[in-house]
Amino acid sequence: MKDKLQALHAEAMAALATLGNARELEEFRVKYLGKKSVFSELLRGLGGLSPEERPAMGQAINATKATVEEALAAREAEILAAARAQQLLDERLDVTMPGKAAPVGGLHPLNAVLNDLIDIFRSMGFDVVDGPEVETDHYNFEALNVPADHPARDMQDTFYLTDNLLLRTQTSAAQIRTMEDRKPPIRILCPGRVYRADEVDATHSPVFHQVEGLVVDKGITLCDLKGVLEQFAHEMYGEGTEVRFRPSFFPFTEPSVEVDVSCPECGGKGCRVCKGSGWIEILGAGMVHPRVLAGCGIDPEEYSGFAFGIGLDRLTTTRHKISDIRLLFENDLRFLNQF
Ligand code: DAH
Repeated sequence: MKDKLQALHAEAMAALATLGNARELEEFRVKYLGKKSVFSELLRGLGGLSPEERPAMGQAINATKATVEEALAAREAEILAAARAQQLLDERLDVTMPGKAAPVGGLHPLNAVLNDLIDIFRSMGFDVVDGPEVETDHYNFEALNVPADHPARDMQDTFYLTDNLLLRTQTSAAQIRTMEDRKPPIRILCPGRVYRADEVDATHSPVFHQVEGLVVDKGITLCDLKGVLEQFAHEMYGEGTEVRFRPSFFPFTEPSVEVDVSCPECGGKGCRVCKGSGWIEILGAGMVHPRVLAGCGIDPEEYSGFAFGIGLDRLTTTRHKISDIRLLFENDLRFLNQF
């Protein structure tokens, strides 16, 4: 019986070493340590021994069983640890791998310059309003003191949709809509697309962009116009920029001016960008014509105002030294990626 016990111990220990997973561990437990196991069978066989032999043999069987139990627990711990180590290995993340960057878009240069412009005027108390691109003759011309026989209405300049509907040729239409909607004090900007039947070349496009501005209040004078627009030019182009006001004519303003800044490319010496003149024209402006105010129900005896229309495309091409306006509309990524 002693030999049998020793053989059994050796067999169990050898079997233990081959166990690899939870299922095999359980099979081992049933075979060697359960109620119907080989050790239980041995214990039941004690009855066949003499009373003197029985206690020592019983103790030997139980002690052997205990060592097998201990060895099983150790093996189980080993297998668990190995499984855990494997799991960690399988789930390992290499945090040093280079990431995959998602491509991000950017602002179109026209929008970037427009945002800067809006920031400048916002800081002076201006609001941004929106207006329709399809306008009526009334808002685009009539209410702006452009009479029916004015050359600006020529079929060659204006895209008419019907006799009365057209693609706006200027954002100035927003002045009228605003003055009909709001009571003074008024300080608004209206950026947007405008359309003219122009041939396409390096400086002309049938669709381009303007930003309209309008201020109406009591006691507004040409000094306010000059101060606001000079401030704008300095913030847009830099403190050292010179600003020049030239007399001009627009049907909806009196007096009217055109505003030039010293060429940001050459500083006023004369270059290709300013065509040798040293100046770049950036906007038209003037004191709102009393007839325009009155047409919108604002008493010109009580209120006065100034308005301006900025060419956004020109602003953008001079700011970024872009030589051809068409680049702004072609959306070629090789161009746009540079901003
Ligand atoms: N609408 C004019 C244009 O398209 C620009 C302009 C000039 C707008 C004078 C104004 C202004 O508001 O007062 O050429």
